[in-house]
Amino acid sequence: GLPDRVDIYEVGPRDGLQAEPVLVDPATKIEFIRRLAGCGLRTIEATSFVSPKRVPQLADADQVLTALDLAEPGLRYPVLVPNERGLDRAVAAGARDVAVFVSATERFAAENLGTTRAGAIELAAPVVRRALADGLGVRGYVSMCFGDPWEGSVEPGAVADVVARLAELGVQRFSLGDTIGVGTAGQVAAVLAAVDRAGVGRDRIALHFHDTYGQALANVVAGLAEGITEFDASAGGLGGCPFAKSATGNLATEDLVWLLHGLGYRTGVDLPALAQVSRWLGERMGRAPVSRVVAALTGP
Ligand code: HMG
Ligand code: MG
Repeated sequence: GLPDRVDIYEVGPRDGLQAEPVLVDPATKIEFIRRLAGCGLRTIEATSFVSPKRVPQLADADQVLTALDLAEPGLRYPVLVPNERGLDRAVAAGARDVAVFVSATERFAAENLGTTRAGAIELAAPVVRRALADGLGVRGYVSMCFGDPWEGSVEPGAVADVVARLAELGVQRFSLGDTIGVGTAGQVAAVLAAVDRAGVGRDRIALHFHDTYGQALANVVAGLAEGITEFDASAGGLGGCPFAKSATGNLATEDLVWLLHGLGYRTGVDLPALAQVSRWLGERMGRAPVSRVVAALTGP
């Protein structure tokens, strides 16, 4: 059977916008996040405190996070943090949940963080230690879990090793990313089985799919069948990854919600309202959302 309950982890304002070449002003970002919360999304990754030279789109992270009501009950606004400098900035802006990110492959660690796989874990270690000491929630992203644009296939054991190292540091929850969207449903069980051997329960694992080859929803269904209860998605299918060749959009939140409602889950998300939010942002950015569900619900 399928799990009783499923959580949606919205990444549009962070993973979505980080890859968008058209600069969105901070007021629009803040309004976007408020509207997402208004549609019933409960966890919204708001921004990232990375080097503004690497991700100019999110150079306004401090301004955006400070403008949100971070104490609102039932809502969480995690932020991405690459190093201690980023943690200092995030804490100063009031963050209560942070996410570190490492790669399952050597090449992407170099492209994304300018280091090795081991180096990425060393970079994350003091961030995790200090964040936990401050009582913050800590998520660990593992990218390139289902394939790498430079290295090709990825051994599930490599994913499990990285998860095990992060778990040793105290990382509470994990998001396994198909960063370039090449994964297919048959791989999901194999990756999860390897991660089981790392001793991290499936209740601590989220899956993060990209829809490059149109497989994201099939992969979600495979994840549900394996007992996974948290999925990342991006409103309107915003984003990709600026540091990975051939990475197109994240799974659209609207597509995920349509699937989940069809399976009988209550997500608390007002789907038509969410589609309108994506449409509104798309108009501001000068491009239509890629989600089929958004197109179906809002018309041409
Ligand atoms: P670096 O460029 O290798 O070297 O940065 P650096 O440490 O010398 O920093 C360069 C400049 O940035 C310096 O400024 C630093 O002070 C500054 P300068 O001296 O030249 O004026 N700097 C910072 N400024 C503000 N906040 C900071 C910060 N850190 C350094 N936190 C670093 C190393 C790791 C910081 C850099 O490579 C970086 O920011 N990388 C992150 C890139 C990124 O955001 N990638 C996308 C992540 S998303 C992902 O991985 C996948 C995921 O979405 C899931 C999926 O889709 O599968 C999670
Ligand atoms: Mg992504």
